[in-house]
Amino acid sequence: MIKISPSVLSADFLNFTDEIKTMEDLGVDMLHLDVMDGIFVPNISFGNPIIKSIKAHTKLPLDVHLMIDKPHRYIKDFAKYADILGFHFEAGSDNAETLKEIRNLGCRSCITIKPCTEPEEIFDLLPLCDMVLVMSVEPGFGGQKFMDSALNKLSKLKSEIDRLGLNIDLEVDGGINGETAEKAVKAGANVLVAGSYLIGSQEIAERVKYLKSL
Ligand code: DX5
Ligand code: ZN
Repeated sequence: MIKISPSVLSADFLNFTDEIKTMEDLGVDMLHLDVMDGIFVPNISFGNPIIKSIKAHTKLPLDVHLMIDKPHRYIKDFAKYADILGFHFEAGSDNAETLKEIRNLGCRSCITIKPCTEPEEIFDLLPLCDMVLVMSVEPGFGGQKFMDSALNKLSKLKSEIDRLGLNIDLEVDGGINGETAEKAVKAGANVLVAGSYLIGSQEIAERVKYLKSL
């Protein structure tokens, strides 16, 4: 069963309760929260105070995607409200230790790779992961075009996860729409992040239904 994780980057945070309710009613599986620090990526979004407020308004699991430099410095803070806590392989932390810390703090752990990283580079970390996130755009902005190079990465990761017999979700993020979602699912993804395709669309109900049917 495909899981949907809408990215709320472009939402109106002062009128957000209605949007959360809509997504809950549509049966999405979690909310994807993009934290950007202006250093690891050339954009700044929001931090833990916003995540804390969102947590108070929904029972949906929070899928927190940290796009910040040296994420180990902030794992304890984000673990207070995150259900799944993901950070970038390339961000300058001890990746194995950070994954272990996330699990020790009671969250599901996720390592994320940018388009420049090959899947083989994270194979040894897989036993420490509950989810792996493959970026299909350069992280930093919503509304970009899906990079087909993500497909081969998803397939390789899926094969390795199966070979190791691990129970790991495989998430894809960036440029997901009806067409790219289908390709990503065929390649092995089972969690779809979708921002501009869902948030603000008049067809959000049909689109969520379609993505879940893949
Ligand atoms: C980009 C973020 C994404 C983004 C996705 O760095 O990680 O989650 O919001 O937006 P779309 O689906 O519009 O590409
Ligand atoms: Zn994201």
